[in-house]
Amino acid sequence: MKRVFSGIQPTGIPHLGNYLGAIRNWATLQADHDCVFCLVDMHSLTMPWEPETLRRQTLGSAACLLAAGIEPTRLYNQSAVSAHARLGWIFNCVSRLGWLNRMTQFKDKAGKNRENHSAGLYVYPNLMAADILAFHATRVPVGDDQRQHIELANDIAQKFNHDMGTDFFPTIEAFIPPAAARVMSLRDGTKKMSKSDPSEQSRITLTDTADDIALKIRRAKTDSEPLPSEEAGLEGRAEARNLVAIYAAMANESVEAVLQRFGGEGFGPFKTALADLLVESLAPVAEETRRLLENEDHLLAVLRQGAERARSISEPIVQEAERLVGF
Ligand code: ADP
Ligand code: NA
Repeated sequence: MKRVFSGIQPTGIPHLGNYLGAIRNWATLQADHDCVFCLVDMHSLTMPWEPETLRRQTLGSAACLLAAGIEPTRLYNQSAVSAHARLGWIFNCVSRLGWLNRMTQFKDKAGKNRENHSAGLYVYPNLMAADILAFHATRVPVGDDQRQHIELANDIAQKFNHDMGTDFFPTIEAFIPPAAARVMSLRDGTKKMSKSDPSEQSRITLTDTADDIALKIRRAKTDSEPLPSEEAGLEGRAEARNLVAIYAAMANESVEAVLQRFGGEGFGPFKTALADLLVESLAPVAEETRRLLENEDHLLAVLRQGAERARSISEPIVQEAERLVGF
């Protein structure tokens, strides 16, 4: 069985982009893969944070993931397992500044004010490489926004192997879902849907009620043209393209099929159908999340057990890496 590793920041409640880009695939992969799923709380310190909020959102994210079908034994939080920090430091010393300078996500997140961001935000991709390679995971289900980070992880693994004269670290294969791999903001079709977007209207979360979902879709930005009947007609229409891609991914249909049904009409009927589809799939997850959040002790116990399993897999691997570098 191939090992899968994937992580999500507990910086906020998971949203539709996380669901379609990652979580939905995680649940499916469990059937025939050895899966390790991590709440990457160490990554959440790379942007400004508030301790009590982080603690609360770690439990909230755990509840969402369990509600979305993640098996309890496969879930833990990163800071509870020291392998991440130890291998992360080694990789900080293997990775090159020139490689990090090319990372587009850093440029997006840091914006113009680069000098005032944490060093953690800059070396984040090195820690992400350690997250995966501490488990010798070879398959990593992520959204398209993480493609460049997986390539960097492979560069780090290769350089480590070359410099230490070993073939210890395997090659990682990114597992990027074909449909809606990049879900965009509902308020601006050129920005990806993200937990860090200050506008709550920009994203649908896994704890939204049916009413929240319907309202956010009704208010989602569109243009004034009718929907086209063919995919080529979405050219230059980022918001329309995003909503159609979400529908297609959610319904497991092609964009062409969705446009055949809704093309030629205005956005009204399409938005109603999209809201219904989202409510049908996500409202039960939200309800189960609320139920799980009523028992915090249970959630903490799930994370403790998950961390024990994660330690038993990663500890021998990181000890061998430490031996290889001369520790
Ligand atoms: P965020 O960027 O919202 O903080 P994370 O960095 O925690 O999300 O990402 C968790 C997972 O969700 C990753 O696999 C990432 O590729 C995926 N993901 C995040 N945002 C999106 C999006 N807008 N569309 C598709 N996948 C996404
Ligand atoms: Na991300």
